[in-house]
Amino acid sequence: MRTSPPGWDITELLGEIADTGRDSARGGYSRHLFDPAERSLRTWFTARSESLGLDVEVDKNSNIWAHWGKPGPGTIGVGSHLDSVPGGGAFDGPLGVASALSAVAAMRADGVRPDRPVAVVAFAEEEGSRFGIACLGSKLMTGGIAPDAVRALTDPGGVTFRDAAAEFGLDPDGIGPDPDRLARLAAFVELHVEQGRGLVDMDSPVAVASGILAHGRWRLTFTGEGNHAGATTMAGRRDPVVAAASAILAAAEIAEKLDDPGHGSHARATVGRLVPVPGGTNVIASRVDAWLDARGDTDEATRALVAEIASAIRGRAAEHGCDAEITEESYSGPVAFDPGLRDQLTSTLGGPPVLATGAGHDAGVLASVLPTAMLFVRNPTGVSHSPHEWASDADCGAGVQSLRTVLGKMITR
Ligand code: GLV
Ligand code: MN
Ligand code: MN
Repeated sequence: MRTSPPGWDITELLGEIADTGRDSARGGYSRHLFDPAERSLRTWFTARSESLGLDVEVDKNSNIWAHWGKPGPGTIGVGSHLDSVPGGGAFDGPLGVASALSAVAAMRADGVRPDRPVAVVAFAEEEGSRFGIACLGSKLMTGGIAPDAVRALTDPGGVTFRDAAAEFGLDPDGIGPDPDRLARLAAFVELHVEQGRGLVDMDSPVAVASGILAHGRWRLTFTGEGNHAGATTMAGRRDPVVAAASAILAAAEIAEKLDDPGHGSHARATVGRLVPVPGGTNVIASRVDAWLDARGDTDEATRALVAEIASAIRGRAAEHGCDAEITEESYSGPVAFDPGLRDQLTSTLGGPPVLATGAGHDAGVLASVLPTAMLFVRNPTGVSHSPHEWASDADCGAGVQSLRTVLGKMITR
């Protein structure tokens, strides 16, 4: 059993897209839905899939499917996503897509004839970096989000999803649940770079996933009084930037007190995006838009975390003479991956570690409607959503080999 035939080695595949979407200002990669970099990755994925003899199709939600065998019942889906966070790493998403191509190439070169159809999938807007909702393509497909709400989403430049989709060539009125496609899928497997240090500490290249923390995003709007930076006394200000700073500190303190992974408790609160309006060095802002990402072990724990943070945010804003509004933009409950499929993967692979993750994935969205599983590949830096995210060539190769082994079993009836 070979890992991959010439031209289909995972390092070569990732090397082909290593210059696509590099972000010279932030470092790393910025590849966002329908932007030139993301379109170029779509073209690359399509060309690579076709050169492997797969039939490529873009679905009504802009997810890309490369079929090995006639699409039909019992299909095994395998893949991940091609988009990135702003200034992200090279592996989050593309490693899973390229590994799926490499594994399929190896099986085809070995003369494997699957008893079931196989589909390599690249899901759209997994990071939610353009329109704010993570796993947008898989959520639309499973009915996890209303098409009307999606059409009205706007990107940071004010472009609506409706207009962006139409400009790309996707019918915005056609987006939404795709029950026939879902009914054909028997299972989905996503390989992903690990986004923590679990495998480094366990000294293992590959793990099987057990579950995902509950997570969501909330829009925070702090309103104060825009004014002059020099002419306004410190006592006479209602500065929403100061209110936001104090509120963000409170959010971090609340989560810190609850986040105790050593005792099985996880609570995360992050504000990674903050926009003062109008945004001038010598201008006291009139408004700050910010986004809270909060995560926890259960729905109850996550809701309680967000309620405590929301109350602190309002209190801190009031202390600075400002108002604060908190609006939920998306929420996903905790995921426990299908135990049968998880155990099948672990036994097929000879008992690798089984790890939970705090990161969201399309496999987590699909888990609500069909058996899904994930494989993680060791990340020696333990860092992700950053240019410092990493995986060695050898570990990526081990990931492909593991994926090929589990797929080999799944596609045989
Ligand atoms: C995606 O990577 C997320 O967890 O937000
Ligand atoms: Mn990510
Ligand atoms: Mn990802």
